[in-house]
Amino acid sequence: MKSHQQQQHHHHHQKGATSLFPKWHVINTFSYFFLFACGVAAGVFLNSYLKNVSFDLHLTKFSISPSPSPPTTSATHNNTTAAAAVGGGCENRQEKIVVEVPVPVLPPPPPPAGRVGLSEYLKVAAEAMHDMEEEELLWRASMVAKVKEYPFPRVPKVAFLFLTKGPMLMAPMWELFFKGNQGLYSIYIHSSPSYVASPDESPLFRARRIPSQVVTWGKFNMVEAERRLLANALLDVANQRFVLLSEACIPLFNFSTVYDYLINSNQVYVEAYDTADARTRYHPDLMPEITLPDWRKGSQWFEIDRDLALEVVSDRRYFPKFQGFCRNKPCYADEHYLPTYFVIEHTGKMSNRSLTWVDWSAGGIHPNRYVRGEVTEEFLEKLRSGSGECLYNGKKTTTCFLFARKFLTTSLVRLLRYAPKVMHFNP
Ligand SMILES: *[C@@H]1O[C@H](CO)[C@@H](O)[C@H](O)[C@H]1NC(C)=O
Ligand SMILES: *[C@@H]1O[C@H](CO)[C@@H](O)[C@H](O)[C@H]1NC(C)=O
Ligand SMILES: *[C@@H]1O[C@H](CO)[C@@H](O)[C@H](O)[C@H]1NC(C)=O
Ligand SMILES: *[C@@H]1O[C@H](CO)[C@@H](O)[C@H](O)[C@H]1NC(C)=O
Repeated sequence: MKSHQQQQHHHHHQKGATSLFPKWHVINTFSYFFLFACGVAAGVFLNSYLKNVSFDLHLTKFSISPSPSPPTTSATHNNTTAAAAVGGGCENRQEKIVVEVPVPVLPPPPPPAGRVGLSEYLKVAAEAMHDMEEEELLWRASMVAKVKEYPFPRVPKVAFLFLTKGPMLMAPMWELFFKGNQGLYSIYIHSSPSYVASPDESPLFRARRIPSQVVTWGKFNMVEAERRLLANALLDVANQRFVLLSEACIPLFNFSTVYDYLINSNQVYVEAYDTADARTRYHPDLMPEITLPDWRKGSQWFEIDRDLALEVVSDRRYFPKFQGFCRNKPCYADEHYLPTYFVIEHTGKMSNRSLTWVDWSAGGIHPNRYVRGEVTEEFLEKLRSGSGECLYNGKKTTTCFLFARKFLTTSLVRLLRYAPKVMHFNP
């Protein structure tokens, strides 16, 4: 109690002191500005003559502070940096006026020449984990550069977004797939929040889990997870295409084929069916934003470009509608949100098809799951190009599926055996 009072008293006293001498501070600050400006001028002048006299030295001399001064910047800094310090450094300091070049607070050490360039600012953390709140993350992810031309050579990346319950079941297959293609892809994994990754998980996936959350209502959680995955991937400006996959998915082609297909595509791959079955899930509560003729159904395994990924994380119209609708109704938002939203707003980009092959032929509510015996060379060849024709950039092709599901871990041995030959994986 006593100490609390003391603190309060102390606090009060401090406040009083500051408000008593505002002018004094202004005058004081101005005189230090003046002094400092002279110092900088003198410094620049001297510096140009005496190359070995440290700039640092001049600045430290102008520091008027009883407390140990923070580290000053090195002598390699320019007049521009010094000028910035004059403008912004002194305003908020009331106790002690320390006129110094502030050290930029950036996590990674600056690259060789001591430059903090654009690449430093754009750098993304090696680990995907962070503790941003959901709203903070979405806001940050929704940022776009208004200037469309990149001021640096840029290698576009494909972001592979894995929505999993737990471990990356087909990890060895994906490792083969990604091998030798560093710099062209990034991986993000959203697993169930209760899942604790094993310490001997492949390094390819270990640091790539993103924050996940326990979700309480219906299938809406899937949409939230998808938005979270997209938002995390958007933080890396190099990511241009975004594929959503599950732990039961495998690639059907090698990395270079998948990469070229996606990077050069002028469409996005989202299924959108208007069927009688789909219509039974529509509810008039979705009006007026969503009407029955707009209502679409698809699988959740999408592939979209950066522009649409940005739209998804910034959506303030359809997403809240689903959010409200799903609170008190049986809801399959994961199968309806994106198809419906995109058909309303971005029809021109829709291919209305999925890149992920799946077999519903057996009927029922779950697709066929593949185990060891079913995986043969012929089977894989059929998935790669024997499933009919489709359009790619307006032209007919038999390469309609780049990925396939659902594969169980028992199929792994055979997949790994055939992959180098059938799928032309790097051996
Ligand atoms: C200072 O300017 C020179 C060229 O004028 C530049 O090469 C150097 O990187 C700059 N240093 C800093 C720290 O900005
Ligand atoms: C220092 O500032 C002057 C004028 O503001 C500018 O012309 C000059 O290029 C600057 N030098 C460095 C090394 O940044
Ligand atoms: C996809 O479906 C929408 C309407 O549902 C249609 O307008 C569009 O032309 C379709 N796109 C393709 C490529 O078939
Ligand atoms: C990838 O697969 C294609 C066939 O789909 C093949 O033509 C190409 O040579 C393969 N690329 C590499 C790097 O192995």
